[in-house]
Amino acid sequence: MSTILQSVGGTHDGVTITDALHRPLRDLRISVTDRCNFRCPYCMPKEVFGRDWAFLPRAELLSFEEIVRLARVFVTLGIEKIRITGGEPLLRRDLPKLIAGIARIEGARDLTLTTNGALLSRMADDLKQAGLQRLTVSLDAIDEAVFRAMSDVNIAAARVLDGIDAAVAAGLHPIKVNMVVKRGMNDHCIGAMAGHFRHTGHILRFIEYMDVGDSNGWRMQDVVPAREIIDVVENEWPLEPIERNYPGEVATRYRYRDGGGEIGMIASVTQPFCRGCTRSRITADGTFYTCLFATRGHDLRQLLRQGANDGEISAFISSVWRGRSDRYSEIRRGAGIGLPKVEMSRVGG
Ligand code: GTP
Ligand code: 5AD
Ligand code: SF4
Ligand code: SF4
Repeated sequence: MSTILQSVGGTHDGVTITDALHRPLRDLRISVTDRCNFRCPYCMPKEVFGRDWAFLPRAELLSFEEIVRLARVFVTLGIEKIRITGGEPLLRRDLPKLIAGIARIEGARDLTLTTNGALLSRMADDLKQAGLQRLTVSLDAIDEAVFRAMSDVNIAAARVLDGIDAAVAAGLHPIKVNMVVKRGMNDHCIGAMAGHFRHTGHILRFIEYMDVGDSNGWRMQDVVPAREIIDVVENEWPLEPIERNYPGEVATRYRYRDGGGEIGMIASVTQPFCRGCTRSRITADGTFYTCLFATRGHDLRQLLRQGANDGEISAFISSVWRGRSDRYSEIRRGAGIGLPKVEMSRVGG
């Protein structure tokens, strides 16, 4: 590790390795399982992720020790923010133990998790106790019929709302709520969702439906552009833009002029944000991806299991990051046509 650290700046604070487009490595998103208890058609459509789908066998999953070790190495390379994702991360057995292990890493300033919320009521306390700092809950509608169509399971939206309440009670307030908007499915719920979360302190973020993976049958006409979403909200409750919290933030922020709180817009289709993308991802089986739309990953598990030391792992990660030139959302149709893309349920949101 020492060689790498020397070559990039010496101490942990201020370590910066940059990619081919001068973007630093700052965020690590760790997927802990490729399984999910939902079948959102835009992510894991039932026809594809059915009974015959081959999920990762247990032996191929990174152990908690392996994940914590990798996270520690990533932190020495400049990672400031770690997000736990899936699939559905709360399905991974003993997840709070992993959170506790990551929370102990010195230098990781932000530790957060994205969940569909179905198991949150019973786990919120343990997650908070383990050291989780923030939480994002995916929720595409409050209307039960629409929620069921968007998640394609027999679980109630009310259960997710209970999960959010439990997280608040556990001290994880405020929460970010992610709503993927799909034309003809839940776009008529934009106003109701905004109304529900106004004055709660939670931050509702509207996400443009993206062409991640190859399973969801994505079509441009199913995307509701951020501009249109803002207009719907603005019509009812006037908005004003607010500054980004940090460079490279995926959401554009707005606040209600009447003091009702904040919303966000994640417009990766109509307003791509690759230029500031500092995000790296590892899958549950230890494959390192440098883009959500990648067609190829890099095997860290093999390195770990072949006995590589931290310096070797660190050197490998740095060399991959230095060679990174991904900017899929900016080029979209021109990028890697014909090559299979990694699925969202594998690489995490
Ligand atoms: P904060 O740390 O709270 O700002 O979180 P975040 O903005 O990273 O949010 P989150 O992880 O919840 O991401 C929200 C959604 O944005 C994801 O579910 C994706 O749909 C989308 N997203 C996140 N990162 C990327 C990215 O690198 N590229 C693209 N195209 N979309 C992304
Ligand atoms: N487009 C946009 N967002 C997506 N997510 C999953 N699939 C897609 C897609 N095709 C979001 C989920 C969740 C996060 C993990 O990723 O809604 O908030
Ligand atoms: Fe599961 Fe989230 Fe994908 Fe829906 S979007 S299927 S909840 S991983
Ligand atoms: Fe980053 Fe790839 Fe998303 Fe662009 S498309 S913001 S490079 S993850």
